[in-house]
Amino acid sequence: MRHTVSIALEDRSYSIEIGAGLLSDHATFAGLSESSSALVVSNETVAPLYAQRLQQTLASRYKTVHLVTLPDGEQFKTWQTLNTIFDALLQNNCDRKTVLFALGGGVVGDMTGFAAASYMRGVPFVQIPTTLLAQVDSSVGGKTGINHPLGKNMVGAFYQPQLVVCDLDTLKTLPEREISAGLAEIIKYGPIADMAFLDWMESHVHALRSGDAQALAYAVQRSCEIKAWVVGQDEREAGLRAILNFGHTFGHAIEAGLGYGKWLHGEAVGCGMVMAAHLSLALGLVDSAFVERLTRLISAAGLPIQAPVLDEKDNAGKYLELMQVDKKAEAGEIRFILIDGPGKACVRGAELNVVRQVIASC
Ligand code: NAD
Ligand code: GLY
Repeated sequence: MRHTVSIALEDRSYSIEIGAGLLSDHATFAGLSESSSALVVSNETVAPLYAQRLQQTLASRYKTVHLVTLPDGEQFKTWQTLNTIFDALLQNNCDRKTVLFALGGGVVGDMTGFAAASYMRGVPFVQIPTTLLAQVDSSVGGKTGINHPLGKNMVGAFYQPQLVVCDLDTLKTLPEREISAGLAEIIKYGPIADMAFLDWMESHVHALRSGDAQALAYAVQRSCEIKAWVVGQDEREAGLRAILNFGHTFGHAIEAGLGYGKWLHGEAVGCGMVMAAHLSLALGLVDSAFVERLTRLISAAGLPIQAPVLDEKDNAGKYLELMQVDKKAEAGEIRFILIDGPGKACVRGAELNVVRQVIASC
């Protein structure tokens, strides 16, 4: 079974193909623009598993299909690694029509997208997400970029892919911890947009963790539908799109504070959602039953629910310092995505002493 989710962005519209066996199916790529060359960007973990399969399929479309293999890990989402993509593009005489294929998780996808946005001021690219997190979130919507030592995803561009291909077969090799990390980004769609999906997650979380193909297919499809709906209304995050960052303000502080790669992005987001739910409670926006319900689901997904200590001397101060570098901060004021009703999120600031208390209590 193959599902198509469409993302409507005028001349930047594209489809998200979801199904099994898509990497080996020539039809998957039939609608792409004409070009003589392609560059597959992957990493040292994913390339040995899937690059050959993809290169074989692409060989019927492109005269040359090059491969560049990046080191694996969030700590390599840097200028230095990005430059190796530009090296490969230039060394292989890639031109303005060369299509980049991002084969991997969110790290490969974000970096490849940014390379595509900037090489010769923009070349086409295709997202082929191979982690659950990338299939339900990072490959969709055109946010691309790299980290800076002072802040996560601080350098980048909005640049939409021509196509997203979620081959569910690739999830079979994904470690359990990575499945849990992906579940964090799936769970987030419930409280911010669709309480029925939150109900569904509660009854399918164990099936998802054990790799149930039908459950995974629905989770990827529904997540992409919600994300496409949000991005279709607010591509460049003028307002609504910020709700997709539920849990991310605290989460990004955790990732940067512990050092990129120590906790997975999804783990930090899972714990960040618990913290954001507590802040919503402290501000009187939700009741304690909601916080308990969400915390139970996040824990059942195999994610941490207790905030890590980032600084022995002034832990809350460290969180606040790191959260000030968040892209949502305005004139130094930290802005949080909070839940203020069933399936409804808002973006707002909060008194620092309230935030301090919440950090201390989590
Ligand atoms: P990741 O890219 O680091 O992948 C996780 C691990 O799984 C890596 O070791 C990877 O090599 C491995 N892997 C990937 N596919 C595999 C497979 N099929 N089988 C076995 N191993 C496999 O992490 P991620 O969780 O996919 O993505 C996290 C990144 O995405 C972060 O940098 C985050 O900032 C970014 N992100 C971006 C957006 C966006 O909108 N652009 C949204 C959410 C997250
Ligand atoms: N993952 C947040 C966004 O795409 O906006």
